[in-house]
Amino acid sequence: MTNLLKQAEERLEKMQAEINPRWYPRYHLAARAGWMNDPNGLVWFDGWYHAFYQHHPYSTKWGPMHWGHARSQDLVHWEHLPVALAPEGPEDKEGCFSGSAVVDGDTLALIYTGHKFHGPADTDDNLYQVQCLATSRDGIHFERQGMVIDTPPGLHHFRDPKVWREGNAWYMVVGARVDNTGQVRLYRSSDLRDWHDEGILAEAEPGMGYMWECPDFFTLHGKRVLMFSPQGMAAEGYEKRNLFQSGYLLGEWQPGEAFVHNGQFIEMDSGHDFYAPQSFLSPDGRRIVMGWLAMWESPMPEQQDGWAGMLSLPRELSLDDNNRLLMKPAAEVTALRGSYFPVPAHCLTNQRLLVTADADAVELCLEWDRIASPAEQFGIVMGNGLRIYVDNQSQRLVLERSGPDCALTGTRSIALAEGDSLSLRIFIDRSSVEVFVNDGEACLSSRIYPQPGQRDIMLFANSGTAALKEAGYWSLDR
Ligand code: FRU
Repeated sequence: MTNLLKQAEERLEKMQAEINPRWYPRYHLAARAGWMNDPNGLVWFDGWYHAFYQHHPYSTKWGPMHWGHARSQDLVHWEHLPVALAPEGPEDKEGCFSGSAVVDGDTLALIYTGHKFHGPADTDDNLYQVQCLATSRDGIHFERQGMVIDTPPGLHHFRDPKVWREGNAWYMVVGARVDNTGQVRLYRSSDLRDWHDEGILAEAEPGMGYMWECPDFFTLHGKRVLMFSPQGMAAEGYEKRNLFQSGYLLGEWQPGEAFVHNGQFIEMDSGHDFYAPQSFLSPDGRRIVMGWLAMWESPMPEQQDGWAGMLSLPRELSLDDNNRLLMKPAAEVTALRGSYFPVPAHCLTNQRLLVTADADAVELCLEWDRIASPAEQFGIVMGNGLRIYVDNQSQRLVLERSGPDCALTGTRSIALAEGDSLSLRIFIDRSSVEVFVNDGEACLSSRIYPQPGQRDIMLFANSGTAALKEAGYWSLDR
């Protein structure tokens, strides 16, 4: 272990002892202490799922990026491992930025962005981002192999390599900014070291962003999905309300050919907090995604408590008959379930009904009969900080949070299709909520910061009646 890695461990041990747990997740992956952002290097290797992540072990603020590391047998119970990478080489002296992992025979290979300035760090003109390699046999200790792709001439923002194997070659997509246009660049290699420039895979049309972060390119039911996190898209009506988005383009691609897509960028999550998702394959072939459950420049009240940031639940992707991406909790999430508590009453008229008191780790399962629910608003309320409800006038499902900070107060919502039933799986953790709608049709993920005594969950129906076909909740165990 290098000196910097040792120092990080020592610091984390001290900071971990001082965490205030009031909002620290019960079942989402968060750093032991300090700052976390994007998931990195999600991979299954040697019998374990590995999750790395952007990490600053010395502070609750973003800083020189390290790669934090955890592993799991089931994607929901995580074991922390020593910090895997620290910014300590000439190629990554200002940070080990986001990247991915692949299994190459008996070796786990991390491919990440080395972030560095040549001269003062106050201008992008001095910024260089290069792609680097680190390898490991045991999946815990990594040997740095240095830079494998230099910054292309004229570029400065060039980061977040995602590598995959196809046929007998390795491919890599990298996000880039050319003037004010977001791009995804493509590379090919036979050995993860020598990379051949294959040109531009995709590029922003006007309005689609000045920088495309964290690209990921994979096959789903015969289609190709380009998932990425654009910076600089403007809000439109109810959509793209967060500072930055994450979403996808769908199309066709074969090695050596152009990526042909329909130009329609679709957001993956309609809540306040989901960014920089990365996908990986489970050993049984499912395409699973995890994202950062937070948003740049949004207040993070947990920083007072010694930590910041967490990852979303793992989500399985599929395509429906209309080629729309579905995203539902990975099957493994049910491993968190403890006891089930059915809700006895199935019809509410102008009333509130207590479901559970003081909830900090529950999965609520609700199936509403919309035809029998003419109430103006109906759904659930948690204390004074969260409501998730159907607004029958706008025909939308709304997530409304009221944070301790006004910047955390507001709504996100999705349009509801015609239909006589609405099924919701709602995962509440100490400072997050994830709402999965109709088995993956939509998802809303947001951070919440309940104050003491504000964790009672109630069903409600205002101005009329609402009817449930099924209702209950699972207590979730660690
Ligand atoms: C996305 C991102 C990446 C970058 C990393 C730095 O959230 O900005 O583009 O590699 O975070 O921490």
